[in-house]
Amino acid sequence: MLIPLILPLVTSTSTNSSTPLLPTPPMGFNNWSRFMCDLNETLFTTTATAMRTTGLQAAGYNRLNLDDCWMATSRLPNATLTWNTTKFPHGIPWLAAQLDSQGFLLGIYADAGNQTCGGFPGSSGHEALDASTFQSWGVKYLKLDGCNVDPATEETYRHRYGLWHSILAAEPPNSTMVFSESAPAYFAGTDNNTDWYRVMDWVPQYGQLARHSTDILVYVGAGSAWASIMNNYDYNVLLARYQRPGYFNDPDFLIPDHSGLTLTEKKSHFALWAVMGAPLIISAWIPGLDAEVVEMLTNPRLIAVDQDALGLQATLASRGVSAGVDVLTRSLQGGERVVAVLNRGNGTVKVEVGVERLGLDANATCEVQAEDLWDGRRVEMVQGGKLVVEGLAAHATGVWRLTLSPGCAPVVPTGIVFNTASGRCLTARDSRVVFETCEALDAQVWQVTAQGSLRPLSDTARCLTAASGGSLGACRGDEDQKWSYAITGNLKNAKTGECLTEGVELVSDCLLEANSQVFGLPSGVALV
Ligand SMILES: *[C@@H]1O[C@H](CO)[C@@H](O)[C@H](O)[C@H]1NC(C)=O
Ligand SMILES: *[C@@H]1O[C@H](CO)[C@@H](O)[C@H](O)[C@H]1NC(C)=O
Ligand SMILES: *[C@@H]1O[C@H](CO)[C@@H](O)[C@H](O)[C@H]1NC(C)=O
Ligand SMILES: *[C@@H]1O[C@H](CO)[C@@H](O)[C@H](O)[C@H]1NC(C)=O
Ligand SMILES: *[C@@H]1O[C@H](CO)[C@@H](O)[C@H](O)[C@H]1NC(C)=O
Ligand SMILES: *[C@@H]1O[C@H](CO)[C@@H](O)[C@H](O)[C@H]1NC(C)=O
Ligand SMILES: *[C@@H]1O[C@H](CO)[C@@H](O)[C@H](O)[C@H]1NC(C)=O
Ligand SMILES: *[C@@H]1O[C@H](CO)[C@@H](O)[C@H](O)[C@H]1NC(C)=O
Ligand SMILES: *[C@@H]1O[C@H](CO)[C@@H](O)[C@H](O)[C@H]1NC(C)=O
Repeated sequence: MLIPLILPLVTSTSTNSSTPLLPTPPMGFNNWSRFMCDLNETLFTTTATAMRTTGLQAAGYNRLNLDDCWMATSRLPNATLTWNTTKFPHGIPWLAAQLDSQGFLLGIYADAGNQTCGGFPGSSGHEALDASTFQSWGVKYLKLDGCNVDPATEETYRHRYGLWHSILAAEPPNSTMVFSESAPAYFAGTDNNTDWYRVMDWVPQYGQLARHSTDILVYVGAGSAWASIMNNYDYNVLLARYQRPGYFNDPDFLIPDHSGLTLTEKKSHFALWAVMGAPLIISAWIPGLDAEVVEMLTNPRLIAVDQDALGLQATLASRGVSAGVDVLTRSLQGGERVVAVLNRGNGTVKVEVGVERLGLDANATCEVQAEDLWDGRRVEMVQGGKLVVEGLAAHATGVWRLTLSPGCAPVVPTGIVFNTASGRCLTARDSRVVFETCEALDAQVWQVTAQGSLRPLSDTARCLTAASGGSLGACRGDEDQKWSYAITGNLKNAKTGECLTEGVELVSDCLLEANSQVFGLPSGVALV
């Protein structure tokens, strides 16, 4: 029998303690990546039918979301938005009712600016009217894009999305409209991440999910679909600290019928999104999905991980840039853990993951059992053991759920501490620390104790110490070895009030979301 472990939980930035509108990530369909503007009513009704017959609906995929291009080219004379009657001859309210009668929820798309990305009417200046129009149509989910916002500053986006938030929150009988915000995507991918993080600071307060980076490759797009998946995965990894029940980072759609992907790559995409607790919104021709793809998408073990009530996002236990291997882990409700091993390299690899890298104690009284989430097979992990992954193919992801015996000590948040701008890892070097390329070294995997000390697995008797020049001293539990982690990514020292910095000095005056001071830490570290 398991004893539930007391884990430090990420504190919510919301003051509202009631059940959030979206306690777990949304699951469903959106037509954009697959069909772009070729959408119509038939596509949606046919997709709904296929989602029932394939078992996708029963597995939890209950949303069908329209993307851009559903609108007529102009508003009605009374300024109300309306649909293209060629594409939607029966109208959107009819479609919403059809879907509702089959147990699905309809989602819609609008734009915060003057025009949508596809050139249809924007909602700027019409926010209240459009919100009440969508409510009256029976729409339950709004993706608000951010094309043609003028001027394109962080302040303007904050104002527009904040306006939508206040309108949606005020709609009687309380908002039931899930609000997906595309704002951060308009600030991603520059050399200076500060504005991107400033947008990330408010999106969790205004809505339930945010598209934070570039669109995943569309079906007809030029380029590598796998590279696109890895690109969006890499952005998501930078933002784990923001995620909590009620708010989810959105690395964009699943594209499981993309002809540029192998089955192995599709499975990696699905497993990574599940361990990160990402939205599972499929953009594909559902009636044409292969049986093996349907089996993947309906895998109950991975869906349970995605929908886990803790709402955590898995973080990097280790990253080996040369080998191309990422190991991700997080806690699940009930004291279990999930671990995923991704092979980004071009050849088959063998990977061994010591349990201490997963935050577990390698001690004689602690037994860890692993369930392979692809096939449900159970693997015994011996005490002081390792998860041994043989023959992990190029671009494959292995994924396991770990069950801990009652003799196991509470989980200690463990993993890399990395600068989210440079990607470099905090690395122990004797009595010093430096920032180096992440190479899955024990000197780069840190335990973060409940008291806020950080110690490398290579030498757990030493702790990160805010001394001049920064150092690694014998752990004493003094104030200069206590650090607090903020949602801004700052790691601040209790004694000096200074922040960890990648630069000439290891600590310096705290700055708000400057590239040199925004760090990714293991999931489970409490935020101040
Ligand atoms: C609806 O859209 C689908 C997918 O793009 C297309 O195959 C079909 O011909 C369209 N139907 C109509 C009536 O336009
Ligand atoms: C799919 O979504 C795109 C993007 O929003 C839209 O332009 C297109 O019309 C949609 N197609 C269908 C068939 O729904
Ligand atoms: C409606 O969509 C059809 C098919 O894509 C297009 O030919 C037509 O111009 C659109 N009409 C309006 C009013 O936007
Ligand atoms: C706007 O006009 C349409 C079409 O006549 C009507 O259905 C709708 O109720 C009107 N909306 C408002 C807010 O008056
Ligand atoms: C966009 O709309 C705003 C009002 O919401 C207006 O002030 C601005 O001039 C418009 N910009 C363009 C390029 O049309
Ligand atoms: C709606 O909000 C009001 C005021 O915040 C609250 O008293 C009420 O319980 C809420 N109703 C539901 C159904 O959540
Ligand atoms: C980064 O952007 C922020 C916000 O726009 C700005 O205040 C800061 O000076 C920029 N930093 C650098 C190094 O350019
Ligand atoms: C795998 O091969 C691709 C294409 O040749 C190359 O761009 C990439 O760097 C390789 N990846 C690794 C981890 O070696
Ligand atoms: C092993 O775990 C038990 C249970 O938490 C703990 O009391 C004990 O101190 C641990 N032993 C070692 C060597 O870590």
